[in-house]
Amino acid sequence: MSKVIFHSGENIPLELHKVRIVQKLNLVPIERRLAAVREAGNNTFLLKNRDIFLDMLTDSGVNAMSDKQLAAMMESDDSYAGSETFPKLQNKIKELFGMDYFLPVHQGRAAENILSQVFVKEGQVVPMNYHFTTSKAHIVLNGGRVEELVGDEGLKVTSDHPFKGNIDLGKLNALIAAEGKDKIAYVRIETGTNLIGGQPHSLENLAEVSAICRKAGIMLVFDASLLADNLYFIKTREAACKDMSIREITRKIADLTDVIYFSARKLGCARGGGICTNNLDAYMKMRELITLYEGFLTYGGMSVREIEAIAVGLEETMDEDMICQGPQFIEFMVNELNKHGVPVITPAGGLGCHVDAMRFLPHVPQSQYPAGALASAVFLVSGVRGMERGSISEQRNPDGSEVYSNMELLRLAMPRRVFTLSQVKYAVDRIVWLYQNREMIGGLKFVEEPKMLRFFFGKLTTVGDWHEKLVAKFRADFGDSL
Ligand code: F0G
Repeated sequence: MSKVIFHSGENIPLELHKVRIVQKLNLVPIERRLAAVREAGNNTFLLKNRDIFLDMLTDSGVNAMSDKQLAAMMESDDSYAGSETFPKLQNKIKELFGMDYFLPVHQGRAAENILSQVFVKEGQVVPMNYHFTTSKAHIVLNGGRVEELVGDEGLKVTSDHPFKGNIDLGKLNALIAAEGKDKIAYVRIETGTNLIGGQPHSLENLAEVSAICRKAGIMLVFDASLLADNLYFIKTREAACKDMSIREITRKIADLTDVIYFSARKLGCARGGGICTNNLDAYMKMRELITLYEGFLTYGGMSVREIEAIAVGLEETMDEDMICQGPQFIEFMVNELNKHGVPVITPAGGLGCHVDAMRFLPHVPQSQYPAGALASAVFLVSGVRGMERGSISEQRNPDGSEVYSNMELLRLAMPRRVFTLSQVKYAVDRIVWLYQNREMIGGLKFVEEPKMLRFFFGKLTTVGDWHEKLVAKFRADFGDSL
């Protein structure tokens, strides 16, 4: 994959597209943001778009679409059953993944609901490299449990391991030996492993996991939501794959798995999702639930416009110029923050830049949610909205005790082809300033705490008046700047 080299020697990502439609942004004064973040209970999910400058909450459903995707949406064929649009996506899936059976769903977690209902029985275990919030919740809801087998390197915040999302094969073999095949519902691999910082697995590791699963007669389920980034990393970091095309790598991956599911809010830059397989028996079992939960088999809860957009988006994902954009912008942001001493997950992964709140705020105990506090502080001083990916994103034990997450991260997602370099530089500038004033930031405590997925709706308040002090310091340093 070629990268443009600047004469200055600077490592700058270059946009390989032009902007044809724009949307105005709001940059409001810090005093307005103080009111907004309080109203939102320091939960960035509860902020309003009108108070946000750069929305780095997620890359889900907010990646920029291409002119070709929009054109395809205009051609969609709307009907409850038998639309001409659906086969376009079905055929694209067959072409790219080589899978005969495709079930449409309204988004990724709907696929997880169906997979868990069909394949997870009470008392079974689902080994995986690492969980995602919704994937774990569905498995647990169906009486199963999750075993995370990511290699030790995956949980180290700073590392130079190129594939921190790899499964530890020794741990997988040991688990299969200890549990036995029948206790294992399936093995799940999450590509571009979200919660450990968008970290990739290698093709080699996937091939080894696949061989172990096939030998043991265990189904291998592949969550392809973050496939675009992982494809880029396989191509650029795995020596054996450097001469393969993205299409070839994609097909090799698919051939190693039994079921692929994805959120098309990420993969394909649209909205929706799907489940693909060559296993007719598995397909038939899942098919019944599609009509129950999602809709008829030719739309599955998606609008036909989105189905058209996914088909084109998947094809565009085979283009190196398209999939390099996320990882290269993220790498730039990670390197710039790193240069200024801000603790970030390394190496840079996909999805976004992940700031290590434990090292940013060593004086804030995990019981006061350092990642949540950092998300609140970053929004306050910059209008950049990130997402807490730490203990608030966990769920309490049945006895009410906290489950402290392995990492306390502030995720600053990089929606693909959405932000320009100067916007990324602005975010870096404000975060570096915050880092220089980090001792002013305090913790948070819950004032409203839902039992399930508390990170979506929970409200917290600051421990002490550190918000007000930060605003005063901002005004002293930045004058009347926004
Ligand atoms: N799997 C992975 C790896 C994901 O990152 C997500 C969503 C899902 C499944 C569920 O898909 O949202 O379409 O239902 N991740 C989003 C995020 C929510 O912000 O990281 P969904």
